[in-house]
Amino acid sequence: MKISKVVSLILAVAMLSIVLVACSGGSGDAVLTMATNAEFPPFEYLEGEEIVGADVDMAKALAEKLGMELEITNIDFDAALTGAATGKYDVAVAGITANDERRKNMDFSNDYYKASQAIIVMADSEIKVAADLEGKTVSCQEGTTGEQYLLDNEYAIQSFKTGAEAISALTTGKVQAVVIDDAVAKALSDKQNGATIVLDEPLTKENYAIATKKGNTELVEKINKALDELKADGTLAAIFAEYDLAFDAE
Ligand code: ARG
Repeated sequence: MKISKVVSLILAVAMLSIVLVACSGGSGDAVLTMATNAEFPPFEYLEGEEIVGADVDMAKALAEKLGMELEITNIDFDAALTGAATGKYDVAVAGITANDERRKNMDFSNDYYKASQAIIVMADSEIKVAADLEGKTVSCQEGTTGEQYLLDNEYAIQSFKTGAEAISALTTGKVQAVVIDDAVAKALSDKQNGATIVLDEPLTKENYAIATKKGNTELVEKINKALDELKADGTLAAIFAEYDLAFDAE
């Protein structure tokens, strides 16, 4: 082979590798897109512009395990569910209760957190137990299992886009109670300076899981493996502890 041919071959290989490096976009990480609804403290909420919370930390740890870059979009809760179901986002992580109804339209990872619906009332309310909700108007967050619980039990309801709006409906006297996930009820109620309390009566048994498009088995398997590792090495327990969340892995 002539020297000039060798030189041009070397040049061609060099140029090709430059193109390849450029295409891989620097870090070389694939992107994991996640939809959430940052209106659900302490799982996901806004701190200034930043989306923070236990779900967010868990998702970051998961993405790191998968060697992917996490890209979070904050949207309405029902839109986050639909976004995962249609594959617009790879996952929705939003304190989402995995249940049979939703399994018709989307797939879920293994469960990562146990929750229940809880009742918030004014501190001086005559409502002491769930049975006292009879004939009362109750607020909730739209598209949630809390809303479904109230509909199933035929209560008069007012649904809001956010839990914060649901609780201000209570403090301004428009409704007599709020039904929302227990840990969130506690977090929202804690901000009312003693005006509201959370009743100690779990209404449902639910499990949070990560939602994906139906049939996305490969991603679900990867997520489950990463979740198992994060459970085993104590990462998940540490994340939940940081937000004062009782965490019992299985
Ligand atoms: N666990 C409930 C459900 O799945 C409420 C979840 C609401 N999550 C949120 N980020 N707003 O319906």
